Amino acid sequence: MRILLIGAGGQLGRQMLAQNQGHDIAPLLHQDLDITKFADVRAAVRAHRPDLVLNAAAFNDVDRAQSDPDAAFRGNALGPRNLSLAAAEAGAAVLHVSTDYVFDGQKTTPYHEYDQPAPLSHYGRSKCAGEVAVRELNPRHYVVRTAWVYETHGTNFPKSLYFLALKHKEVRVVSDVKGSPTSAVHLARSILCLIETGAFGTYHLAGAGEGASWFDLATHFFKALGIDTTVIPVPASEYPHPAPRPAYSVLRTIQDPQVLLPAWQDGVAEFARDIKTQFGDLAR
Ligand SMILES: NC(=O)c1ccc[n+]([C@@H]2O[C@H](COP(=O)([O-])OP(=O)(O)OC[C@H]3O[C@@H](n4cnc5c(N)ncnc54)[C@H](OP(=O)(O)O)[C@@H]3O)[C@@H](O)[C@H]2O)c1
Repeated sequence: MRILLIGAGGQLGRQMLAQNQGHDIAPLLHQDLDITKFADVRAAVRAHRPDLVLNAAAFNDVDRAQSDPDAAFRGNALGPRNLSLAAAEAGAAVLHVSTDYVFDGQKTTPYHEYDQPAPLSHYGRSKCAGEVAVRELNPRHYVVRTAWVYETHGTNFPKSLYFLALKHKEVRVVSDVKGSPTSAVHLARSILCLIETGAFGTYHLAGAGEGASWFDLATHFFKALGIDTTVIPVPASEYPHPAPRPAYSVLRTIQDPQVLLPAWQDGVAEFARDIKTQFGDLAR
């Protein structure tokens, strides 16, 4: 399959390239294409003639979105709209990635694909608007919701924890917010499986299981690293943010075909192994 990969420099973008086997992927970085410019998007799609436009680009600064909602809507709604429309014009399918933050966190059991979005923040509303635009403009779409994504090159919570553990014997981590930690490696592999199906629609692709709090994630991660840094559970109110987040946003899938990722614990264990290889073993 010929794939035009947008946002190739991000966590998911890098892993789409790293995990790819056999697809002809043309990667575009932010500097190569700004998805908020329709004429440029249309020209890129026409030039590359892809079977699938895969959007791994996004405006991901949840707190900055709260003070600059226009920037968030440009990146997360206008951009995906441009990609979906340009793909449809060129006869290509589109795969767009969205978020657990489209939900309000009121549920106490994992969210599936047919649960009703009710975003709490401008970031969540902008991602929701992107989903709607992608669906409306191209019937051959996949909308993939994921959550709490990490990989060794990116900026993410487990990686920050790793560097905190270099300096501190104990860390205070939020224990009353629960989600689905997701390895970008596993996410990329699951997307590669999904695009083989041709079964267009909305999918939840996130680390499998009943979810984890940030505290659970930290505890598991340090155990996998073999270090004895103490993790102290604290309420989310200890770390106030400008943008509200859902307190509970665990994802599961009831979609058919079912595309399942490994358990979130497996992703964390692999990440611990990889980050040790890359940045050194804290246990030594
Ligand atoms: N990270 C998470 O925890 C998480 C959770 C749920 C859902 N998601 C979703 O998963 C997808 C992949 O996330 P990720 O963690 O891989 O993101 P990421 O590492 O932040 O990468 C996003 C990429 O998009 C690029 N970009 C931003 N605005 C752009 C624009 N206007 N035109 C072209 N490129 C642009 C960025 O370039 P610059 O760096 O140059 O701006 C960056 O390379 C996104 O849709 C995200 O919303 C992520």
